[in-house]
Amino acid sequence: MNLKDYIASIPDFPEKGIIFRDISPLMADGDAYREATKRIAEYAKEKEVDMVVGPEARGFIVGCPVAYELGIGFAPARKKGKLPRETVEVSYGLEYGADVLALHKDAIKPGQKVLICDDLLATGGTIAATIELVESLGGIVVGAAFLIELEALKGRNKIEGYDILALMEY
Ligand code: PRP
Ligand code: ADE
Repeated sequence: MNLKDYIASIPDFPEKGIIFRDISPLMADGDAYREATKRIAEYAKEKEVDMVVGPEARGFIVGCPVAYELGIGFAPARKKGKLPRETVEVSYGLEYGADVLALHKDAIKPGQKVLICDDLLATGGTIAATIELVESLGGIVVGAAFLIELEALKGRNKIEGYDILALMEY
């Protein structure tokens, strides 16, 4: 199956000059969504992952079914003001804009192995912030899995040394 058949490319969204890679068609197709989930779960199996962490919002869409498939838990990294209990927080920049990401302080126990999942790697700001949150709690990031990597933006360089899986490249 060619997963790229299920990605819609929209020029000048959300602002001029950005080509938005929309994963909605992939999510809308049961076979494609399952295939993408299975490929990530397969990559994670040998890593003995304890927890999956996904950044809001599209990281939930990718990370939750992977956690379910692996039979482990999922912790959401949310945009500021959304999590009700004590959090760690970090500010970050992305391809369009900036934000603050937060994780519950008890979401990860020291020494736990964590897989981070998101739909897309662009500048790497979001993944770098998520790694910082997990590591501040003593978690060990054993991998980062994405549906899509935008190679020209060189997000990989921001997280050198970490193991990265991208199912599609643009
Ligand atoms: C998008 C995308 C990634 C991030 C990638 O999320 O889902 O999380 O940008 O960009 P980066 O590598 O430059 O950080 P966005 O913040 O737009 O939020 P959303 O998932 O709520 O739409
Ligand atoms: N997040 C950051 N850049 C993006 C893009 N070009 N398409 C979809 N999501 C994104």
